[in-house]
Amino acid sequence: MNDNKIILTGIKPTGRPHIGNYLGAIEPALRRSLNNPNSFFFIPDYHALNNGLPADEIKKLTHVIAATWIASGLNSTKQHLYKQSDIPEIFELETILNATVPKGWMNKSHAYKAAMDQNIEAKRDVDYDVNMGLYTYPILMASDILIFNADQVPVGKDQIQHVEIARDIAGRFNSKYGNHILTLPEHLVEKTVFEVPGVDGRKMSKSYNNFIPLFASEEEWNNAVKKIVTDSNQEHTHESFKETTFYKIFSAIANENDTNKISQQIVDKSIGWKEAKDEMLSQLVSRFKEKSDIYFDLLNDTNKIDEILKSGAELIRPIASKTLKQVKMTIGVL
Ligand code: TRP
Repeated sequence: MNDNKIILTGIKPTGRPHIGNYLGAIEPALRRSLNNPNSFFFIPDYHALNNGLPADEIKKLTHVIAATWIASGLNSTKQHLYKQSDIPEIFELETILNATVPKGWMNKSHAYKAAMDQNIEAKRDVDYDVNMGLYTYPILMASDILIFNADQVPVGKDQIQHVEIARDIAGRFNSKYGNHILTLPEHLVEKTVFEVPGVDGRKMSKSYNNFIPLFASEEEWNNAVKKIVTDSNQEHTHESFKETTFYKIFSAIANENDTNKISQQIVDKSIGWKEAKDEMLSQLVSRFKEKSDIYFDLLNDTNKIDEILKSGAELIRPIASKTLKQVKMTIGVL
């Protein structure tokens, strides 16, 4: 593993993380950053502003994401944890980059295109409800990454394009000014973890409301597990069981042994879906209960979270100012 590479990733404070976020993004990113002091985990709160959330929600969800990182195993004395709005250098860099980024690149960005497609489908003006923050989203994201010279950006598949735009922006800036001042980042996408489906079999997503919450009470987990769609087919082969939503979720949470065991029990009909769901609940409890306790304790002490975020930002601001200073010298304002 490349211990000296700079790793950086962020989670927007727009909702409560679910097990799909954890298994596909949070856990792999933390695993990669073990023993790497150059790891940056942050909360892009200004990105969340574009979603139009009210102030108290932004504040609450910022605490939720910070507590999620910490309860998931982030050690804020070894890895950097901060929020975007505490690093104003990011926004100054964004303004500078604006002058280098062709408008056409933004027209092609997924986040904007998705909003346009929805409007076209609803027969509204293409730019209905699109703010400039959403339109220029990839430039702010590029600033997040480039200000800390990140080499690797662990992300989900939906964010690959944004990291590529960041790379293109860095490349364009460097060639415009004839030097290698900005590091070209690359995206890191976990290949081993398949996408965890939601309880209805579609992609697990906040917007479909089909998710299993990551840190929760047993009751909340149980309610989500109960909603997993199961067929009434009581005759399963190992192959057909593998195709079920239940199996896909179970095998993402449990280890191989426990997964093989439950497959066998379903196939030989020693248990039915009810018992299988009880077993899934136990798996959730054994994997996430202790972490949930840490999470809820932290959320009861938001002053502590605020302190961690504040000192996290203070520690790394000098890195951001150094990058910004070099950029300002390069463009002729310093
Ligand atoms: N756009 C990312 C998402 O929606 C969040 C994000 C913002 C991010 N800035 C980033 C991720 C920089 C990685 C690096 O998931």
